[in-house]
Amino acid sequence: MSFDVSQVKRDFPIFQREIHGKRLVFLDSAASAQKPQPVIDALVRVYSQSYANVHRGIYTLAEEATAEYEQAREKVARFINASANEIVNVRNTTEGLNLLAYSWGEANIEAGDRIVVTEMEHHANLVPWQQLALRKHAELAFIPVTDEGELDLAALPPLLADGKAKLVACTMASNVLGTITPIKDVVRIAREAGAVTVVDAAQAAPHIAIDVKEIGADFLAFSGHKMCSPNVGILWGRHEMLESLPPFLFGGDMIRSVRKYDSCWNDVPYKFEAGTPSIAEAIALGAAVDYLTALGMDAIHEHEVQLVQYTMEQLADIPEVHILGPSAERRGGVVSFWMDCAHPHDIASILDEEGVCVRAGHHCAQPLHTRFGVQATARASFYVYNDEADVDALVAALRRVVKLLKR
Ligand SMILES: Cc1ncc(COP(=O)(O)O)c(C=O)c1O
Repeated sequence: MSFDVSQVKRDFPIFQREIHGKRLVFLDSAASAQKPQPVIDALVRVYSQSYANVHRGIYTLAEEATAEYEQAREKVARFINASANEIVNVRNTTEGLNLLAYSWGEANIEAGDRIVVTEMEHHANLVPWQQLALRKHAELAFIPVTDEGELDLAALPPLLADGKAKLVACTMASNVLGTITPIKDVVRIAREAGAVTVVDAAQAAPHIAIDVKEIGADFLAFSGHKMCSPNVGILWGRHEMLESLPPFLFGGDMIRSVRKYDSCWNDVPYKFEAGTPSIAEAIALGAAVDYLTALGMDAIHEHEVQLVQYTMEQLADIPEVHILGPSAERRGGVVSFWMDCAHPHDIASILDEEGVCVRAGHHCAQPLHTRFGVQATARASFYVYNDEADVDALVAALRRVVKLLKR
């Protein structure tokens, strides 16, 4: 079930460079992942051999570009067990979720309705719903997070009991705690109560196998740039749901016909792809899907669980380090922590001197940090190219932080 990490690392040209004379130890893939040669090659090949605008030209190059763009959509569909006409190319997860908050939200939320999110949401799956609730005088309610960093699922049914909840939006994996949420249960409970369900899969799609049919939600969004691709995002929606939604952006490509004073819309998914899309990037996402599929999504997850387990064991020996979130087997490849002796920004700067890249701050999850009584954390996040030597470099650099900053 495993793959050769040293071979994988060689696939990523960035690991040939050094930072401050040190080996690059990249532990910020939850923010954005590095790109392997086959993905870079796909991008270069499109721009040097088959680039033209899609869906428009009646000439060979345009037809080739269109065919490749649509083949990539089919690959993404297979990757999550969906149909190609349910895959909408957007800019990123954030845009996919905003599309829903405007398109679905404006048409379906009324004063007095309830929108349910969780306390562990990234701002991308919180602020669009918060603003929709404010615009519509609707209520925003939260599924709480336990001290262990898990969703308190027992709190969901009471939020649905009076029939006012129209939407439940939930992350599949937390970008801070690493927690993999019981998303199938969340979706089942929400749908039984008649609520529409939205899944933020930004931290899940790169790391664990996704089957939208098994999850059973109405919508799911993720970002290509976190899964080895250039920046293009995906919004998946059940076909009948996408059919029922009004468009979000208006203009070229999303129309079937335009008269002077009204228009009719193209079929889904094109109805939601106004204007020229990120053509080469979307094609390269297809190459990223091929790359990850060849490694095996189950093998990727297993690899990350092992790395997180090893990291948590090593960090347990540094008493100044405090980790947020559940045990290794209940999380993806994310370890956020704070230290008694150092601000996360100082931690990140000292680690940078050692070639170790981690993120410091609230990671776009301020309410979650408030829930745990901290303003900021440092976050190490892992991907296919990380190994135990990277964890050892992290741990050694953190010991240096203690040495330098502990009074
Ligand atoms: C859980 C989660 N949701 C949404 C996003 C937003 O992704 P993007 O910036 O690609 O839109 C992120 C990004 O870190 C994330 O971790």
